[in-house]
Amino acid sequence: MPTQPQNPTLTIGVFDSGFGGLTVLRALLPLIPGAHYIYLGDTARLPYGAKSQATIARYAVESARFLVDQGAQMLVIACNTATALALPEITAAVPVPVLGVIEPVVQEADASHQGTEVLVLATQATVHSNAYLEACRRHTLHATQKACPLLVPLVEEGWTDHPVTREVLRIYLDEALAVCKPTAVLLGCTHYPLIAAAISQTLQSLGSKAVIIDSAQATAHAAAAVAKTMQHPSSPKHHAATFKCYATDSIEKFARLGTQFLGQPIPEVHLIDLGG
Ligand code: DGL
Repeated sequence: MPTQPQNPTLTIGVFDSGFGGLTVLRALLPLIPGAHYIYLGDTARLPYGAKSQATIARYAVESARFLVDQGAQMLVIACNTATALALPEITAAVPVPVLGVIEPVVQEADASHQGTEVLVLATQATVHSNAYLEACRRHTLHATQKACPLLVPLVEEGWTDHPVTREVLRIYLDEALAVCKPTAVLLGCTHYPLIAAAISQTLQSLGSKAVIIDSAQATAHAAAAVAKTMQHPSSPKHHAATFKCYATDSIEKFARLGTQFLGQPIPEVHLIDLGG
């Protein structure tokens, strides 16, 4: 009987509505060396955070299926909005392990800030889903949520260090700090690590000593634990990770802005059409 050639390289699919998930991919690359990564940014249909649950679930499931069709053996949903609104649908739609971003970041926050009050900054849809509120409640954290709908478009525009972004942050954080006194601020959107410095400065200027916790590192560690259970024994551990990027809109913009998120040049981006 002919034997199937075994692929020694683990293929990991990483998905976000846009560039934000590249902050998770960036954290993954050194943690799971030797893996092959397929990244999909559904940039044509972004922002997810302003859409309904049914639409987010449809987009996320289509994206997840695309990555599995490309050979992904596990999926990292590097999008808080898709995780909050569609994790069960995605998990049911694909025959591979699926990891979201919310549980890892809440676990990390709980480990260092047990029993305290935290502030979750996220998209409108993530806040409305109450996924963070419930995850924090399952641990020991008391969460206050703040929807920040203007931040994703500002980051996607590349305005990560811009007076308009700083002013928008000042308004959002001022409103949030009027109703809570957090020990930590959870960045509940994978776009926000790109403006972590501005968030931190704004918190300080408003008299808050809260520390920032983002989903990239926490999710990457959780993904590494899953990958460890799947990696083929002969998987090469010492060669650099390889990756291939797909976007549903301008590949030129993806390569240009994506470089900022990934922290290294993106050699090639492929345009795909997932429909409307
Ligand atoms: N990076 C996505 C998240 O983590 C952005 C959501 C959007 O497309 O609005 O929620």
